[in-house]
Amino acid sequence: MRWRMQWSCAGLPGSSVSPESPELALSPADAPSLRVLGIETSCDETGVAVYDSRLGLLGQALHSQIALHQAYGGVVPELASRDHIARVLPLVDSTLQQAGSALSDIDVVAYTRGPGLAGALLVGAGVAAALAMAADKPLLGVHHLEGHLLSPLLSEPTLDFPFIALLVSGGHTMLLQAQALGDYRLLGETVDDAAGEAFDKSAKLLGLGYPGGPELARLAERGDPGAFDLPRPKLRSDDLDFSFAGLKTAVLTRVRAIGEGMDEQQRADLAAATQQAITEVLAAKAVAALRRSGLRTLVVAGGVGANLSLRARLDAACAELGARVHYPALAWCTDNGPMIAYAACRRLLAGLERPRREYAFDIRPRWDLSELADDMLCRRNS
Ligand SMILES: Nc1ncnc2c1ncn2[C@@H]1O[C@H](COP(=O)(O)OP(=O)(O)OP(=O)(O)O)[C@@H](O)[C@H]1O
Ligand SMILES: [Mg+2]
Repeated sequence: MRWRMQWSCAGLPGSSVSPESPELALSPADAPSLRVLGIETSCDETGVAVYDSRLGLLGQALHSQIALHQAYGGVVPELASRDHIARVLPLVDSTLQQAGSALSDIDVVAYTRGPGLAGALLVGAGVAAALAMAADKPLLGVHHLEGHLLSPLLSEPTLDFPFIALLVSGGHTMLLQAQALGDYRLLGETVDDAAGEAFDKSAKLLGLGYPGGPELARLAERGDPGAFDLPRPKLRSDDLDFSFAGLKTAVLTRVRAIGEGMDEQQRADLAAATQQAITEVLAAKAVAALRRSGLRTLVVAGGVGANLSLRARLDAACAELGARVHYPALAWCTDNGPMIAYAACRRLLAGLERPRREYAFDIRPRWDLSELADDMLCRRNS
């Protein structure tokens, strides 16, 4: 499904559309100070941030909808969209205040263009376009996964390409070779459930709340991972793909076999065994990608990257291989505004995007990361 919504301000009283803003002809050599307002609304977090290319992160605010969706055991798209509508402008106000900036001080307004929930994306895109148009600033749509992928660089800006990226979120599980900004080559991905989904679904089977990943990880601390023998799907396959649907079924089988009488220790043991199975496969495939590529830098991104057991496993495996591993700050693992403002800033400074005062916006609920490079080519040739 591809949505496209457009409006034009041509013809509106007092409006003018200039195709590009000459004052923002960016190149690394004469990189100016660039201040970006970023808005993230792809799923169940409303995130806003102001990132300045020279001064760093100046302000950010986040509202998580966890409490809203908890009763349903997962994200309800319509509720998510409505909540974004209610939250986004107050968050923009408080972020600008925190940043000591007025909207007029912002150089570019960026928003998450996709992938994500269509209704939720439309809220962020619409609000970003309205703000940009009102302030006569350029507007830029950002790929949500590129935001995740670059999030470790928010705290380590000197971290450089190329590297292997393990992107492990609620909707995606991928290994990528990140050659350069915007050049991300897919090495492998999940053929069914994402790692975050495996955590969430297993957590639900264990009677834990939503989102299940952090809760399952907490319960696992008290468990013995050796108490249950769970499968490691695709651990020994020749490719760099993943599969987690079978693991969820295995957890379901164990839960059913024990039945109503499952005690607290058994729940903790099953949580620990599940976490171990997921993290073992993720770490093994990430190491295999490093070996195959010859690269010795691994970047981990996405919500599951907050999992401490995964981090410990990757730290140990990378140390053995002589590789360095980088994670986002814990707060920047799940969806957030800074990663969108930062990704926009990097793309603009690298000259991959031309800032445009065009207020037609589109969203892409489905959008492969590999299409970013194709899109760039199309724009250059147009
Ligand atoms: N400590 C943790 N251990 C395991 N999983 C975790 C942890 N913290 C968060 N997660 C999982 O991370 C996922 C949320 O991450 P994120 O916000 O990056 O995903 P998303 O935005 O929903 O998906 P996508 O980015 O693919 O669209 C959830 O599945 C959640 O359970
Ligand atoms: Mg996300």
